[in-house]
Amino acid sequence: MPAEALVGIQIGDEGKGKVADVRAASVDAVGRYQGGNNTGKTVQNEYGRHVSHIVPTGVFHKKISIVERGVVIHPPSLVAEIDALIKMGINFDKLLKISPFAHIVGPWHQLKDRTSEAGSDGTKIGTTGQGIGPCYQDKMGRKFAIRVADLLDKNLFLEKLRTVYEAKSEKLRRYGDMPSFEEVRDSYGAARERIVPFIADTGKIIRDLLARRKTILLEGAQAFILDVDHGTFPFVTSSNTGSTAALMYTGIPFDELRTVVGVLKAYPTRVGRGPFPTEIFGIEAEKLRELGSEYGSTTGRPRRCGWLDLPLLRYAAEGVHATELALTKLDVLGRMGMIKICIGYEGVSEIGAFEFLNLEKQVPIYETINVEPIDAVESRDDFPGWVERVIKLIEEYTGVPVTFISTGPERNQYIQN
Ligand code: GDP
Ligand code: IMO
Ligand code: MG
Repeated sequence: MPAEALVGIQIGDEGKGKVADVRAASVDAVGRYQGGNNTGKTVQNEYGRHVSHIVPTGVFHKKISIVERGVVIHPPSLVAEIDALIKMGINFDKLLKISPFAHIVGPWHQLKDRTSEAGSDGTKIGTTGQGIGPCYQDKMGRKFAIRVADLLDKNLFLEKLRTVYEAKSEKLRRYGDMPSFEEVRDSYGAARERIVPFIADTGKIIRDLLARRKTILLEGAQAFILDVDHGTFPFVTSSNTGSTAALMYTGIPFDELRTVVGVLKAYPTRVGRGPFPTEIFGIEAEKLRELGSEYGSTTGRPRRCGWLDLPLLRYAAEGVHATELALTKLDVLGRMGMIKICIGYEGVSEIGAFEFLNLEKQVPIYETINVEPIDAVESRDDFPGWVERVIKLIEEYTGVPVTFISTGPERNQYIQN
């Protein structure tokens, strides 16, 4: 199996970090292909707990860890992430490889993101405020973009930084105060020194890996419902997130991708605005949020919680061409006493384009299931009966087998078929 993609099939925070940390053990390399500091993927293993933003989970397994060209990088944050990993005792000097074609997030991107989100004119998306959208805008705009390749030559980089800083300061004056150029030069200059040793021809590395029949895990960020073209626009992120995006951003040919693991949580959550047909409110939502610690890994915002939505799940599983599913946080659901699962929308047989465009108007039809806590389980046979019902519903609706069941945040808490 040369390439395997691992993608979120709900609205983010499905537990991709946890599942990737397990799967990374059995591949030769791990790659990130899109998104940036908006992602917060939690890994909990023998090194401790880490929230990954840019660096792939491969570093926990001494595997080649590639940051491909679709990723957008905020240099000071990347250095902070690298330092956090070093502090945990992880050495990845020769393993981390960053594409020179990836784009750089400037302080002007963050300023624009944060201030445009602070307005009350109804255009608020509820972004993570990391400057992701404005950075991708500049990538597509092609005029004021800085790429990782620009870091290679110190003098040329500082020159470009000043040119873009001045152009942006002019444009962004109405957004508020930018840090001074000296501050930006010092922090980006210092980060540059740390990042340069990791810049590599990642395209060639991937081609060589595939030529030697090595395996690579493509670790997605965000989720299909947050995809800029396939998701709940405009309440989406600014990149493509699915398995075909993994190929596009890495250049891997489609016949090399044999496995697509769709990651889903036993109940979906959403951060930021956007339609969420099965959203729950009040005491029930509070209970689920507390039991599942549903607060943003990146921003700390309380996550909106809802019941498992099978029609939407089918839409996403089909959209990412999932060949298998990884289900997380069943242990949390087991502590709810009673749960609901959305088995359809009133008057809708399937979500097509027009049903999806009217997602906020859909009325869920629920099946109610009594649940009990999941104690220590060693095989799928040890699960209480309600778990099999949930899995059966998921498999029936999506037509895709659940091959991985996570029962806790730690790396070793899972059952695999
Ligand atoms: P990601 O962005 O998709 O990687 O997900 P996040 O890391 O943002 O959020 C998932 C949260 O659930 C993290 O705190 C994980 O440590 C935790 N987690 C992952 N899988 C499980 C599980 O099966 N059970 C429990 N209780 N927690 C889990
Ligand atoms: P992981 O990889 C959950 C959401 C934001 C907002 C919208 C746009 O941890 O699952 P952006 O900052 O990207 O412009 O915000 O997308 N969002 C996420 N929600 N998990 C994420 O990443 C997210 N990344 C972006 O909350 O609604
Ligand atoms: Mg997350």
